[in-house]
Amino acid sequence: MTPSRSQAFLVLLLLSLLSSSLLYFSVLEQTPSLLGYHQHVPQRNISILLWHWPFGRSFRLRGDKCQTKYNISGCLLSDNTSTFSTADVVVFHHHELSNGRSLLPLHHDRPASQRWVWLSLEPPVNTLNLSQLKGLFNWTMSYRRDADIPVPYGQTLLGGDGHVLKAAPNRSCLLSWVVSRYWPQQARAAVYQSLKKSVPIQVYGRWNRRPLSDRKLLPTISKCFFYLSFENSEATDYISEKLWRNAFQAGVVPVVLGPSRATYEALAPPRSFIHVSDFRSTAELAAYLKRVAADRRAYEEYFQWHRTHRIKTYTDWIERLCQICVQYPSLPPNRVYEDLEDWFHS
Ligand SMILES: *[C@@H]1O[C@H](CO)[C@@H](O)[C@H](O)[C@H]1NC(C)=O
Ligand SMILES: *[C@@H]1O[C@H](CO)[C@@H](O)[C@H](O)[C@H]1NC(C)=O
Ligand SMILES: *[C@@H]1O[C@H](CO)[C@@H](O)[C@H](O)[C@H]1NC(C)=O
Ligand SMILES: *[C@@H]1O[C@H](CO)[C@@H](O)[C@H](O)[C@H]1NC(C)=O
Ligand SMILES: *[C@@H]1O[C@H](CO)[C@@H](O)[C@H](O)[C@H]1NC(C)=O
Repeated sequence: MTPSRSQAFLVLLLLSLLSSSLLYFSVLEQTPSLLGYHQHVPQRNISILLWHWPFGRSFRLRGDKCQTKYNISGCLLSDNTSTFSTADVVVFHHHELSNGRSLLPLHHDRPASQRWVWLSLEPPVNTLNLSQLKGLFNWTMSYRRDADIPVPYGQTLLGGDGHVLKAAPNRSCLLSWVVSRYWPQQARAAVYQSLKKSVPIQVYGRWNRRPLSDRKLLPTISKCFFYLSFENSEATDYISEKLWRNAFQAGVVPVVLGPSRATYEALAPPRSFIHVSDFRSTAELAAYLKRVAADRRAYEEYFQWHRTHRIKTYTDWIERLCQICVQYPSLPPNRVYEDLEDWFHS
């Protein structure tokens, strides 16, 4: 990003923060404190029904989870499908709809004010059978920035976290990659096959029969200078935990393959990654990696963003569901997705 563009971006960010706090205060102002006494006007609770568990893995929703875990009040989560007729919002995770393990409640009377949310964190290659879902959903929930309720895998925030690298740590290897689902026709497979001719790559994960436990994942990755944050497909805004957790949380520099450089620039911290498309060949990329690994100052440049930015990663379905309530007042009131496939596969 050029300085003027990044300044414009900061201004926009500040403006949007300001407008959301104005919104917040206008909600508070509904309390009629001007009348001379404090009258408590309860804000209406929003009830959210999760129709089935994402990937069949259940979690506890009992108790006011949005309040106790995330300090978000008035947001009631439930998995009790018998409460369908009173739910404000019903959330459907796509995977179970697409394979037929869960059915939409099409035979129930759908309250006029109830909104149906289509939820998926998977990229288009893993999101099939969308054509059968025409004209049913009011809101979408996805990692995409243009979803009604954006739920990214991670986010860049302003304000440093103090983790600036002062001296390149003692790394015993140049580059690692963890991959479980490898198909030769993936773009990342071609880059890997070509890159490994020029540099040694430590490959872990199910594909290579070297699985890593959750506990060993980050310590193993952090032994190398670089990590291949290669997405399984190149799709609009699709940047997964391969960047936010595997690379940034391990404290290594990501080499990214996924959406365009412009998308990474908009979403990741400034000067925090190396994009595969910046190089004319994998040989050039390999030469660059070796040069940066041998040059302490050049390597440390990729950690300067910690002075001004920090990242937040998202892994909890409950936190994502609570986001519906946070955004509820500003969501489009009368939207209908006539063709989800047209939106998501574009
Ligand atoms: C919880 O949110 C309220 C406003 O909604 C805020 O005043 C309070 O400081 C928050 N508490 C914590 C622990 O963040
Ligand atoms: C589910 O909701 C129905 C209708 O409100 C209620 O009668 C039932 O007790 C609830 N079931 C559970 C397990 O909470
Ligand atoms: C798509 O739906 C068909 C039946 O309508 C089913 O046989 C198939 O497994 C589904 N595909 C996926 C990827 O879920
Ligand atoms: C760096 O690591 C290697 C092997 O892990 C070790 O032999 C060496 O002593 C370490 N050097 C420093 C300065 O810690
Ligand atoms: C939500 O979507 C349904 C189905 O398309 C539609 O009939 C309904 O009017 C929408 N709700 C609102 C409040 O717009």
